[in-house]
Amino acid sequence: MRNIVILTGAGISAESGLRTFRDSGGLWEDHDVTKVATPEAFERDPDLVHRFYSDRRNYAAKVEPNAAHIALARLQNEHRGRVTLVTQNVDNLHERGGSSEVIHMHGELFRALCAGCGHRWDAPVEMRTTDPCPSCSLPRTRPDVVWFGEMPYHMDEIHERLEEADLFAAIGTSGTVYPAAFFVVDAARSGARTIEMNLEAGENASAFDEVVNGPATEIVPDWVECLLKKARGD
Ligand code: APR
Repeated sequence: MRNIVILTGAGISAESGLRTFRDSGGLWEDHDVTKVATPEAFERDPDLVHRFYSDRRNYAAKVEPNAAHIALARLQNEHRGRVTLVTQNVDNLHERGGSSEVIHMHGELFRALCAGCGHRWDAPVEMRTTDPCPSCSLPRTRPDVVWFGEMPYHMDEIHERLEEADLFAAIGTSGTVYPAAFFVVDAARSGARTIEMNLEAGENASAFDEVVNGPATEIVPDWVECLLKKARGD
Protein backbone atom coordinates (compact mmCIF):
# COMPACT_ATOMS: atom_id res chain seq x y z
CA MET A 1 0.00 0.00 0.00
CA ARG A 2 2.49 2.59 -1.11
CA ASN A 3 0.24 5.56 -1.93
CA ILE A 4 -2.52 6.26 0.59
CA VAL A 5 -5.14 9.00 0.08
CA ILE A 6 -7.27 9.97 3.06
CA LEU A 7 -10.40 12.18 2.95
CA THR A 8 -11.71 13.51 6.25
CA GLY A 9 -14.95 15.25 7.16
CA ALA A 10 -16.51 16.93 10.17
CA GLY A 11 -16.87 13.60 12.01
CA ILE A 12 -13.12 13.42 12.68
CA SER A 13 -13.35 16.67 14.68
CA ALA A 14 -16.63 15.77 16.47
CA GLU A 15 -14.91 14.24 19.51
CA SER A 16 -12.78 17.37 19.82
CA GLY A 17 -16.06 19.19 20.44
CA LEU A 18 -16.68 20.75 17.00
CA ARG A 19 -20.18 20.38 15.59
CA THR A 20 -20.71 18.41 12.42
CA PHE A 21 -23.20 19.60 9.80
CA ARG A 22 -25.82 16.89 9.31
CA ASP A 23 -25.86 14.93 12.54
CA SER A 24 -28.50 15.76 15.14
CA GLY A 25 -27.32 19.03 16.67
CA GLY A 26 -25.33 19.73 13.51
CA LEU A 27 -24.67 23.26 12.27
CA TRP A 28 -27.22 23.03 9.45
CA GLU A 29 -29.92 22.31 12.03
CA ASP A 30 -29.90 25.88 13.34
CA HIS A 31 -28.23 27.76 10.50
CA ASP A 32 -29.71 28.28 7.06
CA VAL A 33 -26.96 27.43 4.55
CA THR A 34 -28.39 29.97 2.09
CA LYS A 35 -27.98 32.72 4.68
CA VAL A 36 -24.41 32.00 5.85
CA ALA A 37 -22.57 29.78 3.37
CA THR A 38 -23.13 31.05 -0.19
CA PRO A 39 -21.64 33.96 -2.20
CA GLU A 40 -25.16 35.45 -2.45
CA ALA A 41 -25.46 35.35 1.37
CA PHE A 42 -22.17 37.27 1.64
CA GLU A 43 -23.33 39.92 -0.84
CA ARG A 44 -26.69 40.19 0.94
CA ASP A 45 -25.50 40.29 4.58
CA PRO A 46 -21.71 40.10 5.00
CA ASP A 47 -21.90 40.89 8.72
CA LEU A 48 -24.15 37.86 9.37
CA VAL A 49 -21.74 35.63 7.39
CA HIS A 50 -18.74 37.02 9.29
CA ARG A 51 -20.51 36.46 12.63
CA PHE A 52 -21.17 32.80 11.68
CA TYR A 53 -17.52 32.19 10.78
CA SER A 54 -16.06 34.30 13.61
CA ASP A 55 -18.08 32.24 16.11
CA ARG A 56 -16.78 29.01 14.56
CA ARG A 57 -13.20 30.39 14.44
CA ASN A 58 -13.39 31.46 18.11
CA TYR A 59 -14.67 28.04 19.12
CA ALA A 60 -12.27 26.04 16.94
CA ALA A 61 -9.31 27.90 18.49
CA LYS A 62 -10.37 26.66 21.95
CA VAL A 63 -10.64 22.89 21.24
CA GLU A 64 -7.85 20.34 20.88
CA PRO A 65 -6.99 17.76 18.21
CA ASN A 66 -8.09 14.24 19.19
CA ALA A 67 -6.55 10.76 18.91
CA ALA A 68 -7.81 10.37 15.33
CA HIS A 69 -6.02 13.54 14.12
CA ILE A 70 -2.88 12.44 15.97
CA ALA A 71 -3.04 8.91 14.50
CA LEU A 72 -3.19 10.30 10.93
CA ALA A 73 -0.16 12.50 11.65
CA ARG A 74 1.65 9.36 12.92
CA LEU A 75 0.75 7.56 9.66
CA GLN A 76 2.09 10.50 7.61
CA ASN A 77 5.35 10.43 9.60
CA GLU A 78 5.90 6.65 9.76
CA HIS A 79 4.44 5.26 6.52
CA ARG A 80 7.23 4.60 3.98
CA GLY A 81 5.00 5.44 0.98
CA ARG A 82 3.12 8.70 0.33
CA VAL A 83 0.17 9.74 2.49
CA THR A 84 -2.06 12.46 1.01
CA LEU A 85 -4.42 14.02 3.55
CA VAL A 86 -7.41 15.82 1.99
CA THR A 87 -9.92 17.42 4.33
CA GLN A 88 -13.34 18.99 3.83
CA ASN A 89 -12.90 20.56 7.26
CA VAL A 90 -11.99 24.22 7.66
CA ASP A 91 -10.65 23.79 11.21
CA ASN A 92 -6.88 23.43 11.77
CA LEU A 93 -6.98 20.35 14.01
CA HIS A 94 -5.06 18.15 11.54
CA GLU A 95 -2.18 20.64 11.58
CA ARG A 96 -2.35 21.02 15.36
CA GLY A 97 -2.39 17.21 15.61
CA GLY A 98 0.97 17.11 13.79
CA SER A 99 -0.07 16.64 10.15
CA SER A 100 1.69 18.54 7.37
CA GLU A 101 0.69 19.35 3.78
CA VAL A 102 -3.02 19.13 4.57
CA ILE A 103 -5.11 19.78 1.44
CA HIS A 104 -8.06 21.94 2.55
CA MET A 105 -10.48 21.49 -0.36
CA HIS A 106 -13.13 23.65 1.36
CA GLY A 107 -10.67 26.32 2.50
CA GLU A 108 -9.59 27.32 6.01
CA LEU A 109 -11.39 29.11 8.85
CA PHE A 110 -8.07 30.67 9.93
CA ARG A 111 -7.34 32.27 6.54
CA ALA A 112 -8.79 35.47 5.04
CA LEU A 113 -9.38 36.14 1.33
CA CYS A 114 -9.82 39.47 -0.43
CA ALA A 115 -12.96 39.24 -2.59
CA GLY A 116 -11.45 42.09 -4.61
CA CYS A 117 -7.93 40.96 -5.57
CA GLY A 118 -7.77 37.34 -4.38
CA HIS A 119 -4.95 37.99 -1.84
CA ARG A 120 -4.91 35.55 1.15
CA TRP A 121 -3.61 36.12 4.67
CA ASP A 122 -3.90 34.70 8.19
CA ALA A 123 -7.35 35.58 9.50
CA PRO A 124 -7.93 37.72 12.61
CA VAL A 125 -10.26 35.88 15.04
CA GLU A 126 -12.96 38.54 14.53
CA MET A 127 -13.12 39.30 10.80
CA ARG A 128 -15.07 42.18 9.21
CA THR A 129 -15.73 42.99 5.57
CA THR A 130 -14.35 46.47 6.22
CA ASP A 131 -10.93 45.06 7.20
CA PRO A 132 -8.69 46.52 4.45
CA CYS A 133 -6.91 43.93 2.29
CA PRO A 134 -3.15 44.03 3.13
CA SER A 135 -2.45 43.92 -0.62
CA CYS A 136 -5.01 46.13 -2.42
CA SER A 137 -6.54 47.91 0.65
CA LEU A 138 -10.08 47.21 -0.63
CA PRO A 139 -12.63 46.60 2.20
CA ARG A 140 -13.71 43.25 0.65
CA THR A 141 -12.43 40.80 3.28
CA ARG A 142 -14.15 37.38 3.41
CA PRO A 143 -13.38 34.04 5.09
CA ASP A 144 -11.18 31.88 2.83
CA VAL A 145 -13.85 29.16 2.94
CA VAL A 146 -15.43 27.50 -0.14
CA TRP A 147 -19.17 28.22 -0.13
CA PHE A 148 -21.94 26.23 -1.80
CA GLY A 149 -21.87 27.05 -5.50
CA GLU A 150 -18.10 27.73 -5.47
CA MET A 151 -15.40 25.43 -6.84
CA PRO A 152 -13.51 23.42 -4.17
CA TYR A 153 -9.75 24.10 -4.04
CA HIS A 154 -6.86 21.89 -5.25
CA MET A 155 -9.05 19.58 -7.36
CA ASP A 156 -6.34 18.89 -9.98
CA GLU A 157 -3.85 17.80 -7.33
CA ILE A 158 -6.50 15.68 -5.56
CA HIS A 159 -7.43 13.87 -8.78
CA GLU A 160 -3.76 13.22 -9.56
CA ARG A 161 -3.31 11.62 -6.12
CA LEU A 162 -6.50 9.54 -6.51
CA GLU A 163 -5.24 8.17 -9.84
CA GLU A 164 -2.07 6.92 -8.12
CA ALA A 165 -3.76 5.67 -4.94
CA ASP A 166 -3.31 2.09 -3.71
CA LEU A 167 -5.55 2.74 -0.70
CA PHE A 168 -8.33 5.33 -0.19
CA ALA A 169 -9.89 5.97 3.23
CA ALA A 170 -12.85 8.27 3.95
CA ILE A 171 -13.13 9.21 7.63
CA GLY A 172 -16.00 11.06 9.35
CA THR A 173 -17.86 12.24 6.28
CA SER A 174 -21.51 11.64 5.36
CA GLY A 175 -20.63 11.22 1.69
CA THR A 176 -23.42 13.62 0.72
CA VAL A 177 -21.47 16.55 -0.75
CA TYR A 178 -19.83 16.37 -4.17
CA PRO A 179 -17.17 16.24 -5.56
CA ALA A 180 -15.71 14.74 -2.31
CA ALA A 181 -18.38 12.03 -2.19
CA PHE A 182 -17.19 10.79 -5.59
CA PHE A 183 -13.51 10.38 -4.64
CA VAL A 184 -14.13 6.74 -3.64
CA VAL A 185 -15.28 5.96 -7.20
CA ASP A 186 -12.24 7.73 -8.70
CA ALA A 187 -9.91 5.80 -6.38
CA ALA A 188 -11.58 2.44 -7.06
CA ARG A 189 -11.32 3.10 -10.79
CA SER A 190 -7.56 3.49 -10.31
CA GLY A 191 -7.47 0.08 -8.63
CA ALA A 192 -7.23 1.31 -5.04
CA ARG A 193 -8.69 -0.57 -2.09
CA THR A 194 -11.28 1.63 -0.38
CA ILE A 195 -12.36 1.85 3.27
CA GLU A 196 -14.92 4.03 5.04
CA MET A 197 -14.51 4.79 8.76
CA ASN A 198 -17.55 6.54 10.21
CA LEU A 199 -19.83 6.60 13.26
CA GLU A 200 -22.64 5.36 11.02
CA ALA A 201 -22.47 4.21 7.41
CA GLY A 202 -22.31 7.23 5.07
CA GLU A 203 -24.63 7.70 2.09
CA ASN A 204 -22.05 6.28 -0.30
CA ALA A 205 -20.96 3.43 2.00
CA SER A 206 -21.92 0.82 -0.62
CA ALA A 207 -19.15 2.14 -2.89
CA PHE A 208 -16.43 1.07 -0.40
CA ASP A 209 -14.68 -2.32 -0.20
CA GLU A 210 -14.76 -2.12 3.59
CA VAL A 211 -16.83 -0.12 6.12
CA VAL A 212 -15.78 0.22 9.78
CA ASN A 213 -18.29 1.94 12.09
CA GLY A 214 -17.38 3.51 15.40
CA PRO A 215 -16.02 6.71 16.93
CA ALA A 216 -13.00 8.04 15.03
CA THR A 217 -10.87 8.26 18.19
CA GLU A 218 -11.16 4.46 18.50
CA ILE A 219 -11.25 3.13 14.93
CA VAL A 220 -8.65 5.44 13.34
CA PRO A 221 -5.75 4.77 15.76
CA ASP A 222 -6.49 1.00 15.45
CA TRP A 223 -6.49 1.25 11.65
CA VAL A 224 -3.17 3.17 11.61
CA GLU A 225 -1.56 0.70 14.02
CA CYS A 226 -2.67 -2.23 11.79
CA LEU A 227 -1.40 -0.56 8.62
CA LEU A 228 2.02 0.22 10.12
CA LYS A 229 2.33 -3.29 11.61
CA LYS A 230 1.48 -4.87 8.23
CA ALA A 231 4.04 -2.63 6.50
CA ARG A 232 6.68 -3.75 9.04
CA GLY A 233 5.69 -7.36 8.31
CA ASP A 234 4.81 -7.92 11.99
N1 APR B 1 -16.48 9.51 14.69
C1 APR B 1 -16.59 9.19 13.38
N2 APR B 1 -17.56 9.69 12.56
C2 APR B 1 -18.43 10.57 13.11
C3 APR B 1 -18.38 10.96 14.47
C4 APR B 1 -17.35 10.39 15.27
N3 APR B 1 -17.20 10.69 16.57
N4 APR B 1 -19.40 11.82 14.71
C5 APR B 1 -20.06 11.97 13.53
N5 APR B 1 -19.48 11.21 12.58
C6 APR B 1 -19.88 11.07 11.18
C7 APR B 1 -21.37 11.10 10.97
O1 APR B 1 -21.87 9.76 11.02
C8 APR B 1 -21.48 11.68 9.55
O2 APR B 1 -21.46 10.64 8.58
O3 APR B 1 -19.36 12.21 10.50
C9 APR B 1 -20.20 12.50 9.39
C10 APR B 1 -20.47 13.99 9.39
O4 APR B 1 -21.19 14.28 8.23
P1 APR B 1 -21.50 15.82 7.87
O5 APR B 1 -22.03 16.51 9.09
O6 APR B 1 -22.32 15.81 6.62
O7 APR B 1 -20.06 16.45 7.58
P2 APR B 1 -19.23 16.34 6.23
O8 APR B 1 -19.43 15.03 5.57
O9 APR B 1 -17.84 16.74 6.58
O10 APR B 1 -19.88 17.51 5.32
C11 APR B 1 -19.24 17.75 4.07
O11 APR B 1 -20.70 19.62 3.71
O12 APR B 1 -21.79 21.42 4.61
C12 APR B 1 -20.71 21.06 3.84
O13 APR B 1 -18.74 22.25 3.59
C13 APR B 1 -19.43 21.47 4.50
O14 APR B 1 -17.32 20.30 4.50
C14 APR B 1 -18.71 20.14 4.74
C15 APR B 1 -19.35 19.21 3.74
